[in-house]
Amino acid sequence: MRNIVILNGAGISAESGLGTFRDQDGLWTKYDLEEVATPQGFARNPTLVQGFYNARRANCRGASPNAAHTALARLETEHPGEILVVTQNIDDLHERAGSRAVWHMHGEILRALCAACGHRWDAPDEMAPDDPCPACGAASTRPDVVWFGEVPYLMEEICYRLTQADLFVSIGTSGNVYPAAGFVELARGAGAATLELNLEPSDTASAFAETRQGKASQLVPDWVAGLLARAD
Ligand code: OAD
Repeated sequence: MRNIVILNGAGISAESGLGTFRDQDGLWTKYDLEEVATPQGFARNPTLVQGFYNARRANCRGASPNAAHTALARLETEHPGEILVVTQNIDDLHERAGSRAVWHMHGEILRALCAACGHRWDAPDEMAPDDPCPACGAASTRPDVVWFGEVPYLMEEICYRLTQADLFVSIGTSGNVYPAAGFVELARGAGAATLELNLEPSDTASAFAETRQGKASQLVPDWVAGLLARAD
């Protein structure tokens, strides 16, 4: 199992206090995603959208990595092969746990993006629609997150890495949102072993060779410990 690609979603950060999207009490039960997570919603009401992401940025800054994030950082350090974490999460909990190979396919809440010139920079705590871009001065700033209807980041590179993987592991994601929900088929089709670690079987659970149910803070450290013990 040299090359391991790990996809994760909101479930891995749930025990750090960051809400998921589709569980009971999830963010999409309280907010209309069309209004706060689409380019059209942003065009209609940028203040509302910036406010939504300002609150999420504050939650992220107030949260700490949990045992699942820490276990993946340990795996990256101790596994003799390659580990790549592809996350749908916009928080920075993997980085704060010590992981270095982390690709944020849905962007990062702690970064800002100029829609006019493409410049990126560290987001302030509070962003406002008329904040000027530090590079070009345009008042076109937005959070550096991918909205519905936009193409996720690094897709070509991610697809390539999935085709090279010996093992594909999906953690804490409902399998509702493509293209991430299709990664298991791509990796499996290219010959990877597949494992799902989730609180409950996801929408794509039947595509995995193995599934384990439970909390990420328990399942992920157990899986990492087992894998590293076998590598000895
Ligand atoms: P979801 O809210 O759709 O799914 C979270 C998954 O995590 C569910 O299957 C839960 O059962 C599981 N879960 C919850 N708590 C858990 C725990 N403690 N341990 C393990 N699993 C747990 O979130 P995502 O799949 O991440 O995109 O959602 C994917 C994308 O949809 C997000 O990146 C976001 C959202 O809309 C955008 O905003 C573009």
